[in-house]
Amino acid sequence: MTHRIAVIPGDGIGKEVTAQAVRVLEASGDCELHALPWSADHYLATGETMPANGYDVLRSFDAVFVGALGDPRVPDNRHARDILLGTRFELDLYVNYRPVRLLHQGLCPLKGRTPDEVDFAVFRENTEGVYVGIGGRFKPGTDDEVAIQEEINTFKGVNRIVRHAFEFARTRGLTRVCMADKSNAMAQGHALWQRVFHTVRAEYPEITATHLYIDALAMFLVQDPGQFDVIVTNNLFGDIVTDLGGALQGGLGMAASGNIHPGRTSMFEPVHGSAPPLAGKNVANPIGAILSAALMLETLGRAEDAKRIERAVESAVHDGDVTRDVGGTLGTREAGDAILRRLR
Ligand code: NAD
Ligand code: IPM
Ligand code: MN
Repeated sequence: MTHRIAVIPGDGIGKEVTAQAVRVLEASGDCELHALPWSADHYLATGETMPANGYDVLRSFDAVFVGALGDPRVPDNRHARDILLGTRFELDLYVNYRPVRLLHQGLCPLKGRTPDEVDFAVFRENTEGVYVGIGGRFKPGTDDEVAIQEEINTFKGVNRIVRHAFEFARTRGLTRVCMADKSNAMAQGHALWQRVFHTVRAEYPEITATHLYIDALAMFLVQDPGQFDVIVTNNLFGDIVTDLGGALQGGLGMAASGNIHPGRTSMFEPVHGSAPPLAGKNVANPIGAILSAALMLETLGRAEDAKRIERAVESAVHDGDVTRDVGGTLGTREAGDAILRRLR
């Protein structure tokens, strides 16, 4: 079966890493790729972030692949809000799945950590929290300014992501799920996370369910990442700890992610952004993007194709045929070549 994929390279290094992910997808067969120009360039040229029917356009594909969005020429980040956050909301992609897997001991910034100790999944709630943009500013620009940004936590939203994390652990035979919140300080919203977590954990007696405050989680991720199999947390905390997770894998250039609504059109993108200082220099690491493409194929039911890509990436990493951020000497394109060579 041929899958129809929308491809949004976006901005900065997003374009360069997407070009490599596209080559890998083309070599994996059975993908019909449709490039969409939505980006800062497109917004600045047309005044339009995406067309009025943009979310319907995306829904008409089997999956969406995104490079990165963000450009200093659009300081309010309006296009990224519409294209990236808007798609997460409008397509109701409530699962932000961000695997953290160290592919080679030498890449981990923590001393002595082996790949089997840095191997866990973060499930970030992806449709609510502080990201909903509810709030406002009173007397902006004055010394009396009041700025309000609400954090939304709903039973539906918390319940479905917590259940998803436990279900993932059960189906993969993983034994540990850790929920992280800040219920000691955020006694309203995060009391809901506590209630849901205690209800759901009772349905998974074979799983050791633990709770950590998010600050302690950040500490343990550095001190002893081997204690985690599955982490579930809210939108903002998940954003922050998955950059930390990127670092544990060797850098942001290594980290993959999926924005998923099980059974519906979902969106895949590297964890990193458009990295303006690196853009246009052929230095960005394409592995996060390529592994996100593999995650997309896996989610589309093509586990074998996904595995082939992962094995090719692992082999390139083991041989040091990688970009400079992870200790190699290659450019973005050449790192893509190194992976493509190993696919065949
Ligand atoms: P960033 O992830 O773009 O980059 C931070 C730093 O990480 C870079 O300067 C670089 O040192 C390193 N890095 C990131 N990706 C790399 C790669 N592939 N290879 C090598 N090194 C890499 O984060 P930022 O600088 O905070 O944000 C830049 C822009 O990207 C902002 O506009 C931000 O809003 C946006 N952003 C977009 C996404 C997305 O589209 N999903 C994610 C994060 C940030
Ligand atoms: C990410 C990014 C986005 C987020 C930004 C670009 C709004 O950092 O996908 O991790 O915070 O979700
Ligand atoms: Mn982020």
